Amino acid sequence: MTNPNETGETILSTDQNTGPVAVITGASSGIGEATARALAADGCRLALLARRADRIQALADELGDGAIAIEADVTDRDSIVAAAERVENELGGADILVNNAGVMLLAPFTSDQKAEIRQMVEVNLLGAMTATEVFLDQLRDGGGDLVNLSSVAGRTARPGNAVYAATKWGMNGWSESLRQELQPDIRVMVIEPGAVATELTDHITHADTKQAAEQMYEEMSITAEDIAEVIAFAVNRPRRMTLNEILIRPTGQAL
Ligand SMILES: NC(=O)c1ccc[n+]([C@@H]2O[C@H](COP(=O)([O-])OP(=O)(O)OC[C@H]3O[C@@H](n4cnc5c(N)ncnc54)[C@H](OP(=O)(O)O)[C@@H]3O)[C@@H](O)[C@H]2O)c1
Repeated sequence: MTNPNETGETILSTDQNTGPVAVITGASSGIGEATARALAADGCRLALLARRADRIQALADELGDGAIAIEADVTDRDSIVAAAERVENELGGADILVNNAGVMLLAPFTSDQKAEIRQMVEVNLLGAMTATEVFLDQLRDGGGDLVNLSSVAGRTARPGNAVYAATKWGMNGWSESLRQELQPDIRVMVIEPGAVATELTDHITHADTKQAAEQMYEEMSITAEDIAEVIAFAVNRPRRMTLNEILIRPTGQAL
Protein backbone atom coordinates (compact mmCIF):
# COMPACT_ATOMS: atom_id res chain seq x y z
CA MET A 1 0.00 0.00 0.00
CA THR A 2 1.14 3.60 -0.53
CA ASN A 3 0.98 6.16 2.25
CA PRO A 4 2.29 9.74 2.37
CA ASN A 5 4.87 10.33 5.13
CA GLU A 6 5.33 13.58 7.09
CA THR A 7 7.19 15.23 4.23
CA GLY A 8 4.55 14.20 1.74
CA GLU A 9 6.70 11.53 0.04
CA THR A 10 4.92 8.37 -0.98
CA ILE A 11 6.03 5.36 1.07
CA LEU A 12 5.35 1.92 -0.29
CA SER A 13 4.81 -0.62 2.48
CA THR A 14 3.41 -4.11 2.61
CA ASP A 15 2.97 -3.93 6.41
CA GLN A 16 -0.82 -3.81 6.20
CA ASN A 17 -1.17 -5.92 3.05
CA THR A 18 -3.56 -8.86 3.28
CA GLY A 19 -3.85 -9.56 -0.44
CA PRO A 20 -2.58 -12.49 -2.51
CA VAL A 21 0.93 -13.87 -2.03
CA ALA A 22 3.10 -13.32 -5.10
CA VAL A 23 6.33 -15.25 -5.64
CA ILE A 24 8.67 -13.54 -8.09
CA THR A 25 11.80 -15.21 -9.43
CA GLY A 26 14.58 -12.85 -10.45
CA ALA A 27 13.28 -10.13 -8.12
CA SER A 28 16.73 -8.60 -7.61
CA SER A 29 16.63 -6.27 -10.62
CA GLY A 30 14.77 -5.06 -13.69
CA ILE A 31 11.28 -6.34 -14.43
CA GLY A 32 11.18 -8.61 -11.36
CA GLU A 33 12.04 -5.81 -8.96
CA ALA A 34 9.58 -3.41 -10.60
CA THR A 35 6.85 -6.07 -10.52
CA ALA A 36 7.45 -6.58 -6.81
CA ARG A 37 6.87 -2.86 -6.20
CA ALA A 38 3.77 -2.76 -8.43
CA LEU A 39 2.18 -5.80 -6.76
CA ALA A 40 3.08 -4.48 -3.30
CA ALA A 41 1.28 -1.23 -4.15
CA ASP A 42 -1.77 -3.34 -5.08
CA GLY A 43 -1.87 -5.03 -1.67
CA CYS A 44 0.03 -8.24 -2.38
CA ARG A 45 2.40 -9.94 0.00
CA LEU A 46 5.63 -10.96 -1.63
CA ALA A 47 8.30 -13.63 -1.74
CA LEU A 48 11.34 -12.23 -3.55
CA LEU A 49 13.60 -14.90 -5.05
CA ALA A 50 17.02 -14.44 -6.68
CA ARG A 51 20.66 -15.38 -6.21
CA ARG A 52 21.84 -11.90 -5.14
CA ALA A 53 20.68 -12.08 -1.53
CA ASP A 54 21.80 -8.54 -0.68
CA ARG A 55 19.62 -7.03 -3.41
CA ILE A 56 16.42 -8.90 -2.50
CA GLN A 57 16.98 -8.36 1.23
CA ALA A 58 17.28 -4.60 0.68
CA LEU A 59 14.06 -4.64 -1.36
CA ALA A 60 12.23 -6.73 1.27
CA ASP A 61 13.41 -4.36 4.02
CA GLU A 62 12.13 -1.41 2.01
CA LEU A 63 8.76 -3.07 1.30
CA GLY A 64 8.13 -4.02 4.94
CA ASP A 65 6.65 -6.92 6.88
CA GLY A 66 4.61 -8.36 4.00
CA ALA A 67 7.73 -9.10 1.94
CA ILE A 68 10.36 -11.79 2.45
CA ALA A 69 13.64 -12.33 0.61
CA ILE A 70 14.66 -15.88 -0.23
CA GLU A 71 18.01 -16.63 -1.84
CA ALA A 72 17.28 -19.18 -4.54
CA ASP A 73 18.71 -20.30 -7.86
CA VAL A 74 16.13 -21.57 -10.34
CA THR A 75 18.67 -24.10 -11.66
CA ASP A 76 18.95 -25.64 -8.18
CA ARG A 77 15.70 -27.48 -7.44
CA ASP A 78 16.54 -27.96 -3.76
CA SER A 79 16.73 -24.19 -3.30
CA ILE A 80 13.32 -23.76 -4.93
CA VAL A 81 11.82 -26.51 -2.74
CA ALA A 82 13.26 -24.76 0.34
CA ALA A 83 11.80 -21.46 -0.92
CA ALA A 84 8.36 -23.06 -1.34
CA GLU A 85 8.51 -24.36 2.24
CA ARG A 86 9.26 -20.87 3.52
CA VAL A 87 6.43 -19.37 1.44
CA GLU A 88 4.02 -21.96 2.84
CA ASN A 89 5.16 -21.53 6.45
CA GLU A 90 5.63 -17.75 6.54
CA LEU A 91 3.02 -16.48 4.07
CA GLY A 92 0.52 -19.35 3.87
CA GLY A 93 1.34 -20.42 0.30
CA ALA A 94 1.66 -18.80 -3.13
CA ASP A 95 -1.31 -17.38 -5.09
CA ILE A 96 0.75 -15.88 -7.93
CA LEU A 97 4.01 -17.19 -9.41
CA VAL A 98 5.90 -14.84 -11.71
CA ASN A 99 8.47 -16.85 -13.68
CA ASN A 100 10.71 -13.91 -14.46
CA ALA A 101 14.31 -15.11 -13.88
CA GLY A 102 16.16 -15.06 -17.18
CA VAL A 103 19.40 -14.44 -19.02
CA MET A 104 19.93 -13.22 -22.59
CA LEU A 105 23.47 -14.20 -23.58
CA LEU A 106 23.24 -13.29 -27.26
CA ALA A 107 25.98 -14.38 -29.67
CA PRO A 108 26.44 -16.21 -32.96
CA PHE A 109 25.71 -19.92 -32.44
CA THR A 110 29.08 -21.69 -32.03
CA SER A 111 30.83 -23.97 -29.54
CA ASP A 112 32.41 -20.86 -28.00
CA GLN A 113 29.04 -20.31 -26.41
CA LYS A 114 28.43 -23.87 -25.20
CA ALA A 115 28.26 -22.93 -21.50
CA GLU A 116 25.93 -20.01 -22.22
CA ILE A 117 23.68 -22.18 -24.42
CA ARG A 118 23.19 -24.50 -21.47
CA GLN A 119 22.75 -21.63 -19.00
CA MET A 120 19.99 -19.99 -21.06
CA VAL A 121 18.04 -23.23 -21.37
CA GLU A 122 18.58 -24.10 -17.71
CA VAL A 123 17.54 -20.69 -16.36
CA ASN A 124 14.93 -19.42 -18.82
CA LEU A 125 13.11 -22.64 -19.62
CA LEU A 126 13.96 -25.40 -17.16
CA GLY A 127 14.12 -22.89 -14.30
CA ALA A 128 10.57 -21.73 -15.01
CA MET A 129 9.41 -25.35 -15.28
CA THR A 130 11.08 -26.23 -11.98
CA ALA A 131 9.58 -23.28 -10.11
CA THR A 132 6.17 -24.11 -11.55
CA GLU A 133 6.15 -27.81 -10.67
CA VAL A 134 7.42 -27.02 -7.16
CA PHE A 135 4.81 -24.31 -6.49
CA LEU A 136 1.96 -25.98 -8.41
CA ASP A 137 0.08 -27.40 -5.41
CA GLN A 138 0.21 -24.03 -3.64
CA LEU A 139 -1.13 -22.27 -6.76
CA ARG A 140 -3.93 -24.80 -7.20
CA ASP A 141 -5.04 -24.36 -3.60
CA GLY A 142 -7.75 -21.70 -3.82
CA GLY A 143 -7.03 -20.70 -7.44
CA GLY A 144 -3.82 -19.10 -8.63
CA ASP A 145 -2.05 -17.19 -11.35
CA LEU A 146 1.00 -18.23 -13.35
CA VAL A 147 2.76 -15.34 -15.11
CA ASN A 148 5.50 -16.39 -17.52
CA LEU A 149 7.99 -13.84 -18.86
CA SER A 150 8.50 -14.69 -22.50
CA SER A 151 9.60 -12.08 -25.04
CA VAL A 152 9.13 -10.70 -28.53
CA ALA A 153 11.87 -13.30 -29.11
CA GLY A 154 9.21 -15.91 -28.34
CA ARG A 155 7.51 -14.92 -31.60
CA THR A 156 10.37 -13.82 -33.86
CA ALA A 157 13.91 -15.13 -34.31
CA ARG A 158 16.93 -13.50 -35.91
CA PRO A 159 20.64 -14.24 -36.33
CA GLY A 160 22.43 -14.03 -32.99
CA ASN A 161 19.50 -14.88 -30.73
CA ALA A 162 18.94 -18.55 -31.65
CA VAL A 163 19.13 -20.05 -28.17
CA TYR A 164 17.47 -17.16 -26.38
CA ALA A 165 14.63 -17.29 -28.93
CA ALA A 166 14.43 -21.08 -28.51
CA THR A 167 13.94 -20.67 -24.76
CA LYS A 168 11.20 -18.09 -25.26
CA TRP A 169 9.46 -20.03 -28.07
CA GLY A 170 9.66 -22.98 -25.69
CA MET A 171 8.14 -20.85 -22.95
CA ASN A 172 5.21 -19.98 -25.24
CA GLY A 173 4.47 -23.58 -26.25
CA TRP A 174 4.79 -24.85 -22.69
CA SER A 175 2.53 -22.04 -21.40
CA GLU A 176 -0.18 -22.71 -23.99
CA SER A 177 -0.29 -26.37 -23.03
CA LEU A 178 -0.40 -25.46 -19.33
CA ARG A 179 -3.17 -22.94 -19.99
CA GLN A 180 -5.40 -25.71 -21.29
CA GLU A 181 -4.29 -28.20 -18.66
CA LEU A 182 -4.62 -26.00 -15.59
CA GLN A 183 -7.75 -23.99 -16.36
CA PRO A 184 -9.93 -23.02 -14.58
CA ASP A 185 -7.94 -23.42 -11.33
CA ILE A 186 -4.89 -21.53 -12.52
CA ARG A 187 -4.83 -18.63 -14.97
CA VAL A 188 -1.79 -18.75 -17.26
CA MET A 189 -0.50 -15.45 -18.64
CA VAL A 190 2.40 -14.95 -21.02
CA ILE A 191 4.09 -11.55 -21.10
CA GLU A 192 6.16 -10.79 -24.22
CA PRO A 193 8.18 -7.59 -23.84
CA GLY A 194 10.29 -5.97 -26.54
CA ALA A 195 13.33 -3.92 -25.52
CA VAL A 196 13.18 -2.97 -21.82
CA ALA A 197 16.02 -1.03 -20.17
CA THR A 198 17.33 -3.40 -17.45
CA GLU A 199 20.56 -5.24 -16.63
CA LEU A 200 19.73 -7.93 -19.20
CA THR A 201 22.28 -6.84 -21.82
CA ASP A 202 25.07 -6.37 -19.20
CA HIS A 203 25.83 -10.09 -19.16
CA ILE A 204 26.34 -10.56 -22.93
CA THR A 205 29.95 -11.73 -23.42
CA HIS A 206 30.24 -11.54 -27.24
CA ALA A 207 31.67 -8.03 -27.68
CA ASP A 208 30.16 -7.08 -31.06
CA THR A 209 26.75 -8.46 -30.14
CA LYS A 210 26.81 -6.67 -26.79
CA GLN A 211 27.63 -3.37 -28.43
CA ALA A 212 24.86 -3.76 -30.99
CA ALA A 213 22.32 -4.75 -28.34
CA GLU A 214 23.29 -1.87 -26.06
CA GLN A 215 23.01 0.59 -28.93
CA MET A 216 19.58 -0.70 -29.87
CA TYR A 217 18.39 -0.50 -26.26
CA GLU A 218 19.80 3.02 -25.92
CA GLU A 219 17.93 4.18 -29.01
CA MET A 220 14.66 2.56 -28.10
CA SER A 221 13.50 0.90 -24.93
CA ILE A 222 10.68 1.08 -22.43
CA THR A 223 11.05 0.76 -18.66
CA ALA A 224 10.75 -2.16 -16.28
CA GLU A 225 7.93 -0.21 -14.60
CA ASP A 226 6.00 -0.18 -17.90
CA ILE A 227 6.02 -3.99 -17.91
CA ALA A 228 5.32 -4.24 -14.18
CA GLU A 229 2.19 -2.13 -14.58
CA VAL A 230 0.92 -4.49 -17.27
CA ILE A 231 1.58 -7.55 -15.08
CA ALA A 232 -0.21 -5.91 -12.14
CA PHE A 233 -3.15 -5.03 -14.42
CA ALA A 234 -3.33 -8.60 -15.73
CA VAL A 235 -3.38 -10.31 -12.33
CA ASN A 236 -5.94 -7.81 -11.03
CA ARG A 237 -8.56 -8.73 -13.65
CA PRO A 238 -11.65 -10.55 -12.33
CA ARG A 239 -11.11 -14.32 -12.22
CA ARG A 240 -13.74 -14.89 -14.91
CA MET A 241 -11.24 -13.60 -17.48
CA THR A 242 -7.57 -14.11 -18.32
CA LEU A 243 -5.18 -11.99 -20.38
CA ASN A 244 -3.46 -15.04 -21.81
CA GLU A 245 -0.82 -13.41 -23.98
CA ILE A 246 0.41 -9.81 -23.94
CA LEU A 247 2.95 -8.45 -26.45
CA ILE A 248 4.46 -5.08 -25.49
CA ARG A 249 7.00 -3.27 -27.68
CA PRO A 250 8.52 0.19 -27.54
CA THR A 251 6.41 2.08 -30.05
CA GLY A 252 9.28 2.40 -32.53
CA GLN A 253 10.52 -1.20 -32.35
CA ALA A 254 10.10 -2.93 -35.71
CA LEU A 255 10.73 -6.62 -34.90
N1 LIG B 1 14.84 -6.46 -20.75
C1 LIG B 1 14.26 -6.86 -21.89
O1 LIG B 1 14.41 -6.23 -22.94
C2 LIG B 1 13.39 -8.09 -21.91
C3 LIG B 1 12.60 -8.32 -23.03
C4 LIG B 1 11.82 -9.46 -23.08
C5 LIG B 1 11.82 -10.36 -22.04
N2 LIG B 1 12.61 -10.12 -20.95
C6 LIG B 1 12.62 -11.13 -19.88
O2 LIG B 1 12.31 -10.53 -18.65
C7 LIG B 1 12.89 -11.30 -17.60
C8 LIG B 1 13.59 -10.36 -16.61
O3 LIG B 1 14.71 -9.78 -17.25
P1 LIG B 1 15.17 -8.27 -16.99
O4 LIG B 1 15.10 -7.58 -18.29
O5 LIG B 1 14.48 -7.70 -15.83
O6 LIG B 1 16.74 -8.50 -16.70
P2 LIG B 1 17.62 -8.42 -15.39
O7 LIG B 1 17.52 -7.08 -14.75
O8 LIG B 1 18.97 -8.92 -15.78
O9 LIG B 1 16.91 -9.47 -14.41
C9 LIG B 1 17.10 -10.85 -14.54
C10 LIG B 1 16.79 -11.50 -13.21
O10 LIG B 1 16.97 -12.92 -13.35
C11 LIG B 1 17.62 -13.39 -12.21
N3 LIG B 1 18.34 -14.63 -12.48
C12 LIG B 1 19.25 -14.88 -13.44
N4 LIG B 1 19.71 -16.14 -13.32
C13 LIG B 1 19.06 -16.69 -12.25
C14 LIG B 1 19.10 -17.95 -11.62
N5 LIG B 1 19.92 -18.94 -12.04
N6 LIG B 1 18.30 -18.18 -10.55
C15 LIG B 1 17.49 -17.20 -10.09
N7 LIG B 1 17.40 -15.97 -10.65
C16 LIG B 1 18.19 -15.74 -11.72
C17 LIG B 1 18.55 -12.26 -11.79
O11 LIG B 1 18.81 -12.35 -10.39
P3 LIG B 1 20.19 -12.82 -9.72
O12 LIG B 1 21.29 -12.54 -10.68
O13 LIG B 1 20.26 -12.04 -8.45
O14 LIG B 1 19.97 -14.30 -9.47
C18 LIG B 1 17.72 -11.04 -12.09
O15 LIG B 1 16.94 -10.68 -10.99
C19 LIG B 1 13.79 -12.33 -18.27
O16 LIG B 1 13.14 -13.58 -18.33
C20 LIG B 1 13.97 -11.78 -19.67
O17 LIG B 1 14.26 -12.79 -20.61
C21 LIG B 1 13.38 -9.01 -20.84
